[in-house]
Amino acid sequence: MTRYSRIIGTGGYLPEEIRTNEQISQTVDTSDSWIFERTGIKSRRIAGPNETASSMAEIAARQAIEAAACDPEDIDLIIVATGTPDRVYPSTGCLLQQRLGIKNCVAFDVQAACSGSIFALSIADQYIKSGAAKKILIVGTEICSRIVDWTDRSTCILFGDGAGAVLLGVSEETGILSTHIHSDGEYEDMLYCPNPQVATEANKDEASYISMRGNEVFKVAVNTLGRIVDETLEANNLEKSDIDWLVPHQANIRIIVATAKKLKMSMDQVVVTLETQGNTSSASVLLAFNEAVRDCRIQRGQVVLLEAFGAGFTWGSALIKY
Ligand code: UT7
Repeated sequence: MTRYSRIIGTGGYLPEEIRTNEQISQTVDTSDSWIFERTGIKSRRIAGPNETASSMAEIAARQAIEAAACDPEDIDLIIVATGTPDRVYPSTGCLLQQRLGIKNCVAFDVQAACSGSIFALSIADQYIKSGAAKKILIVGTEICSRIVDWTDRSTCILFGDGAGAVLLGVSEETGILSTHIHSDGEYEDMLYCPNPQVATEANKDEASYISMRGNEVFKVAVNTLGRIVDETLEANNLEKSDIDWLVPHQANIRIIVATAKKLKMSMDQVVVTLETQGNTSSASVLLAFNEAVRDCRIQRGQVVLLEAFGAGFTWGSALIKY
């Protein structure tokens, strides 16, 4: 029997506070029109003072577990993708396990910046296909607002907070068709967030904020995502027209439009959450997927391409027959 990983439940959480472009333009030299034209973002959600990556993950995870009508004790493995963990350790996965009250499972984090949820899907798929696990909870959760320098107009306009979750089960029918993940550390200085507590003498004074050479990242992202689309289609012997939905990482509407164009897809077949959520890093793809499943755009049996690009650089895709 061929074993496939199948998405059996989805969930998502967005914090209550909405921070608009107008509000940001009162504190840094920018404008709603600049931000919207260059990025596609109008507003983003900001976590409350008592929220953390694990508290948001818990809400998204509970939704996914409920949607799948799954007993939490049946979950073998929890993989949390985050670049903004509550603590250096324990992992946010362990903190989530504790919050969900699950005793007998393995939990760990994946750190692949904005590509984290695709990396987590790829790892989970190997565990399910090999028979090592039967039910895997994946959560991408981020409090980007706490690692953003709110005085830096080139980055503070981009990011938002939230958590997205999927629960994977085993299926004899198709589910995840393939995953493709890549890394190239050569670009480590184009997009990074320092950790001053463990820095060397040379860089101990760096503030712990996101630093990005946006324009250069943009160009690499467009080219790289174009290549991953080709790689994914080729690996599955599929044509562009076989894809029903594109669920991209939500970094910039111009990057998303370029990828859709490459796939010859109409923007009606692309799930875009950027306008009201900004870039939620590793949460963005799962949040978008959850939204389109819950509003019934994505239907069972349809072919969905998930893709992401982030710091590292890291990038990847997952092709799913939902
Ligand atoms: O999720 C992980 C991956 N991340 C990404 O994929 C992000 C990729 N990068 C981007 O999305 C875009 O590069 C940005 C949205 C960050 C920037 O857009 P851009 O079209 O690449 O602008 P730019 O950085 O080339 O800057 C153009 C001008 C500059 O002014 P000068 O030098 O032309 O006078 C900037 O100083 O825009 C200026 N600028 C701003 N102006 C108003 C930069 N940020 C702002 C701002 N408001 N917020």
